[in-house]
Amino acid sequence: MIIAIDGPAAAGKGTLARRLAEKFNFAYLDTGALYRAVALSLIKDGYEPLNEEAARHAARTLNLDLLNDPDLRLEATGSAASYVAAMPDVRRNLMEFQRKFSESPPENKAGAVLDGRDIGTVICPNADLKFYVTASAEERAKRRVAEMKSRGVEADYAEILEDVTARDARDMDRKDAPLTKAEDAHLLDTTDLAIDAVFLRAAAIIENCIKPQ
Ligand code: C5P
Repeated sequence: MIIAIDGPAAAGKGTLARRLAEKFNFAYLDTGALYRAVALSLIKDGYEPLNEEAARHAARTLNLDLLNDPDLRLEATGSAASYVAAMPDVRRNLMEFQRKFSESPPENKAGAVLDGRDIGTVICPNADLKFYVTASAEERAKRRVAEMKSRGVEADYAEILEDVTARDARDMDRKDAPLTKAEDAHLLDTTDLAIDAVFLRAAAIIENCIKPQ
């Protein structure tokens, strides 16, 4: 079973995806981490995120060790990731890894949960279930600030809101695989919904799909 979860930055899709994978014992792939790893590789080598040749090379020879680098989670890495993610060659190079993961999940798991921006539309258009998780930009910025502060990281609400809004625009307006809700995706607006309620709603939809008809 393939479950596709898409949505804008900081909407809560990562937490939801991780909890669903745990509940149903499915494999989980955070596809944003792949784009972040490409961006981080450029940052570490002193390249601008807009350097297409360097980005193409980093995606083709992706260093998976970077997935465990603490700098992967920095705001600056997420922002740089949205620049390399607009490059068709970078997307093409990361596609196969994602498709393979969904078709043959590691450890012979019976299913895979993938979260990102184009899972339901491009990577796994035939996913068994699709969710589009979103929330207002203000609410997402608020959550991002709270999450950063809980890690002891300085965060300015206005700056984060600007970053979230700019990233939305880059992800939604790019030509190749823009962020958009797949027609057959379940919409989960988490603006006024706690993560537990979102999780219960999504889990019920999956259970209903697994249940023999
Ligand atoms: O989800 P996360 O914030 O880690 O993603 C970082 C960036 O990677 C996004 O802003 C987006 O530009 C890009 N991305 C993408 N397609 C995906 C996952 C992430 O374009 N499937």
